[in-house]
Amino acid sequence: MATTVDVNGRSLNVNSPPDTPLLWVLRDELGLTGTKYGCGVAQCGACTVLADGQPIRACQTPISALGAAKITTIEGLGGNHPLQQAWVKLDVPQCGYCQSGQIMSACALLASNANPDDEAISGAMDGNICRCGAYQRIRAAIKEAAAMPAAPAEPAAAPVAAKPAA
Ligand code: FES
Ligand code: FES
Repeated sequence: MATTVDVNGRSLNVNSPPDTPLLWVLRDELGLTGTKYGCGVAQCGACTVLADGQPIRACQTPISALGAAKITTIEGLGGNHPLQQAWVKLDVPQCGYCQSGQIMSACALLASNANPDDEAISGAMDGNICRCGAYQRIRAAIKEAAAMPAAPAEPAAAPVAAKPAA
C-alpha cells in the first residue's frame, strides 16, 4: 500500500512499508541522498530534516508518523539558500558528512530566531555532532547567514524518483 509523503513541496506516493524510517525513503526510494545516515539511533543529527519547519531525526521517524507534515530536506533549500551561501563562503565542511544535518538544524533556528547569539546557536545545534570539529565555522556561518537577506519561505523543487500523488 502506498503512503503519501510531502517532500520539498511535492506530494508523493511511496511504496516502502509504513514503518520504514523516513531516512531510507528519502535516500533509497526518492533518491534524495543529501540526508545522511550516521548513528541510526537519533544521537548524531546527520539525518536531520525539517517537518513543518521543525528539525526531526529521519533515522528514527517512520513514514507512518508523518501524517500531513511537510518535509524539507537539504535538496529543498535549492543550493542558494543564505545558509548554503555562508557555508561556501566560510568553507565550513571538512569531511562534509554531518553538514546537511547541520544546515537543516540551522535553518530551523534562523526561522525562529533571525539573529541568534552564541547561546541560542549552541542550544539549537547541540544535537548535531561534527566528528571533524567544525563547530566554530558552523557558528560563524550561521551568523553570516543571519546577516543576509531572508531566505525564501517555500522550499525549492528538488528532483525525486517517485511519482507525484494523484
Ligand atoms: S543518523 Fe539519525 S541521528 Fe544519527
Ligand atoms: S565535517 Fe566531518 S563530521 Fe562534520
